[in-house]
Amino acid sequence: MLSNPFRELWGLNPDVDFLNHGSFGATPISVLDAQREWMLRLESDPIEFLAPERTLLPKLDLVRRLVGSLVNASPEDIAFVRNSTEGVNAVLRSFRFTSGDEVMITNHGYNACNNAVRYAAAKAEAVVTEAIVPFPIDSETQVLDAIESKISPRTRLLLVDHVTSPTGLVFPVREIVQLAHEKGIRVMIDGAHAPGMVSVDLQDIDADYYTANHHKWLCGPKTSGFLHVRNDLQHEVRPTTISHGANTDRYGSSKFQGEFNWVGTYDPTPILALPDAIGFLSSLLDGGLPELMTRNRDLALRGRECLLQKMKTAEPAPREMIGSLATVLIPMQGSLTPSQAQSIKQKLFDDYRIEVPVFQISEQRTCLRISAQAYNCLEQYERLADAIEELLG
Ligand SMILES: Cc1ncc(COP(=O)(O)O)c(C=O)c1O
Repeated sequence: MLSNPFRELWGLNPDVDFLNHGSFGATPISVLDAQREWMLRLESDPIEFLAPERTLLPKLDLVRRLVGSLVNASPEDIAFVRNSTEGVNAVLRSFRFTSGDEVMITNHGYNACNNAVRYAAAKAEAVVTEAIVPFPIDSETQVLDAIESKISPRTRLLLVDHVTSPTGLVFPVREIVQLAHEKGIRVMIDGAHAPGMVSVDLQDIDADYYTANHHKWLCGPKTSGFLHVRNDLQHEVRPTTISHGANTDRYGSSKFQGEFNWVGTYDPTPILALPDAIGFLSSLLDGGLPELMTRNRDLALRGRECLLQKMKTAEPAPREMIGSLATVLIPMQGSLTPSQAQSIKQKLFDDYRIEVPVFQISEQRTCLRISAQAYNCLEQYERLADAIEELLG
């Protein structure tokens, strides 16, 4: 199987070309070792390790400071969550909608998070509106236009992805926030894919709420992410699990932190191993994480080019909107059912040993999304392009 010098640093199955880092991430062996060390320490004295009044909180605060410096935010404004879905849920389910309010999502949003919006809105008889961003897309302006066209005097909140899940587009989040704020609308950014893929500057973006995963492009162990909330809104945002922090101030430097620091018994080791993950990624190339992000983006673009050439299709999005995920449209005669799209994905895995998502974004459009992480190389996308050519005949 084709490889590159970094490949052996991950425990990925050597018989499979793994081109789907985007879905769940993949954690390097050394980071799992570091997490295991934390687990052993925890189990050597669970009370000393886990009880918030003993030694857990300063450990979390160290990681909080690291996350703050990575995304240019004050650590005071950062809470830990298990994943972005949890971050979105905390904000949406805390939001004080009134009947008739509008909350906007986009058609590129992640289904689970859009479901959280629908649930929270339905409980308050608020209305969910959807901005339709085209795909293929020519420019960032089309994202802004799609959102602007759905703004009404009732719009209270906008949930939008930093990097979109199905289409792998880097949205112009700073401009989106500016546009919404000019109309008095709050913005929650779902940055599940962003840290480790693109540079994230939360002061510059200026969103009211921003959540992200550590287990995707930062390669941390699974179930680790953060939620950033603008300081003056923190008193409104509660975790989805109400626990001891609700009636004590002892579990963090603020009520906000205290409630999120203790959501019942949980495993903090994925969070505690994050510094190892960031250290690992930063050590791969001389230029550290910024150089790795550039390298991954270049690889995603070259992989995309390979597929576009083989399938003789045009690029569905400008290069400026691509990070280390890239989605292409598969040219088909007629439309596919979802199960036919699923069967292409299954054949790629069973017959070619390639793990890559194939899915439909509309009845007529079947897509394939590639990811590029340090362990990937160009030959893997060439193999994929050949396999697709053979499968489609
Ligand atoms: C934009 C976006 N939001 C949220 C998620 C959910 O991530 P998690 O399951 O870790 O919460 C994903 C996962 O791919 C995603 O792409």
